[in-house]
Amino acid sequence: MAIQRTFSIIKPDATKRNLTGKIIAKFEDAGLRIVASKRIRMTREQAEAFYGVHKERPFFGELVDFMISEPVVVQVLEGEDAIAKNREVMGATNPADAAPGTIRKEFALSVGENSVHGSDAPETAAEEIRFFFKDEEIVG
Ligand code: RTP
Ligand code: MG
Repeated sequence: MAIQRTFSIIKPDATKRNLTGKIIAKFEDAGLRIVASKRIRMTREQAEAFYGVHKERPFFGELVDFMISEPVVVQVLEGEDAIAKNREVMGATNPADAAPGTIRKEFALSVGENSVHGSDAPETAAEEIRFFFKDEEIVG
């Protein structure tokens, strides 16, 4: 497997509880490098566009409201097999199903307020990175 980049969001439930550093430590301990990072308040337009794939789902409105409720930290993570590795470190979407030691097992509050987002494939990773970062903001 080659070096990849993936996109991550530390979500509002985690920034609110001051867990940014603890979550970043999980990425770094897994061999992922933070090559871009910024703390932002997502606009409603950004959240609706970012999660556009879920717009027909019953939880869409709740998800958008949650994502704009507090600041988030958007990041680009780089490393060997970074997309799958990040998903592994994150754990299952529902913290009740997440493996011990994963971010969601240790920190997530519920299936909705689940502390982190991570891209699920190379195409979505590239698209999501481009959505939030200019090339010159990524320093590998
Ligand atoms: P993510 O996209 O945030 O990395 O999470 P994921 O792939 O594990 O989950 P996905 O199915 O893509 O869902 C996106 C986000 O929507 C919220 N969600 N809420 N209330 C619900 O039943 C429900 N299901 C999903 C979560 O915040 C999930 O991460
Ligand atoms: Mg997803």
